[in-house]
Amino acid sequence: MAGTVKHSHLKSSWRCPSNIALVKYWGKRDFQKPMNPSLSFVLQNAYTETSVELHKDGDQKVEFYFEGVESAFGERIEQFLDYISVRLNWVHKYNFRIHSRNSFPHSAGIASSASSFGALALCLTELDFSWSGKPVESPEFWQMASEIARMGSGSACRSVYPGFSIWGKTQLFESCSDDFAVPILGGINPVFYGLQDAILMVDAGTKEVSSSVGHRMMDKHVYQHSRIAQAHENINALYLALLTGNQKKFVEVVENEALSLHAMMMTSNPSFILLKPNSLELIQRIRRFREKSGIPVCFTIDAGPNIHMLYFQENELDVKAFIERELLVFCENGKWIDDRIGKGPEVKSLPQHPPHEGAK
Ligand code: PMV
Repeated sequence: MAGTVKHSHLKSSWRCPSNIALVKYWGKRDFQKPMNPSLSFVLQNAYTETSVELHKDGDQKVEFYFEGVESAFGERIEQFLDYISVRLNWVHKYNFRIHSRNSFPHSAGIASSASSFGALALCLTELDFSWSGKPVESPEFWQMASEIARMGSGSACRSVYPGFSIWGKTQLFESCSDDFAVPILGGINPVFYGLQDAILMVDAGTKEVSSSVGHRMMDKHVYQHSRIAQAHENINALYLALLTGNQKKFVEVVENEALSLHAMMMTSNPSFILLKPNSLELIQRIRRFREKSGIPVCFTIDAGPNIHMLYFQENELDVKAFIERELLVFCENGKWIDDRIGKGPEVKSLPQHPPHEGAK
């Protein structure tokens, strides 16, 4: 049996979406655990496709090809494999050949770590489950994929589910955990099924301050306790708005979270500012449009200068006309991405070899 395993090539491929947080994770505790709970939804058009092939040829631990070209990201993956070997001890027995591609342009300014680590975690979890005869695509499967993804990049743990999910302990559900995200399965008001996200590209360059440095600034932040309390209040209010279809409350909480995240950056020591003049211009225009038209549009912002304008399907024509007319001029080379709430990850191919003994 061991002889067969030795020459086998074991492969799994997944597509995993990116996600956008409405209540923001900012600040860590312990190893990759959040200081506060967060709530996000996955996108439909922004995703990563990854295939993982295990082999025992040569002595290179990880070969990582991004869009066909070998990339230095392999080093971060080696470190990630070390972390996850606590859960998947077989990772030390193989070398990895990983191919990855994003649906969105490399320089689009969309954080790809959530979709990349989500896709990688799904491949590894699928290999693990199929070998040990556990049911793939069961609740335990998604939970483990979420936990493994979290070890690569915190926000990635929310990318493995369709629609909305929550990561971090809250008073909302007992099943919420700091170790993995949980999906919000039922009860969401149908108005939110058609949530749209226009990603307005203000600056596609690399961020001046990485999220890991930003998270660390929360350790001694003067507003740490009030930020944690605020995130709990906001997640409760947002969840209620999602259940009741309260678009006004949704808009209020989402913008409060986006600006609070950036306020934390501006008031940390040392402080930093990721917003650009055009980010502020877009914010003002979105607010003015909402006031004048009565259409419930709002913005959210990740750790960067780009603006995610959220709106509802029923207002699509008016909002798209507004984007063309007033917003594109403030986007870098007029670039924006037309996205919406998504259906979650998809398997691209099942592991090629049957379960075998001795993998674990
Ligand atoms: O997952 P990280 O470590 O890249 O952190 C992401 C943090 C934010 O995008 C700003 C917020 C969030 O909850 O996704």
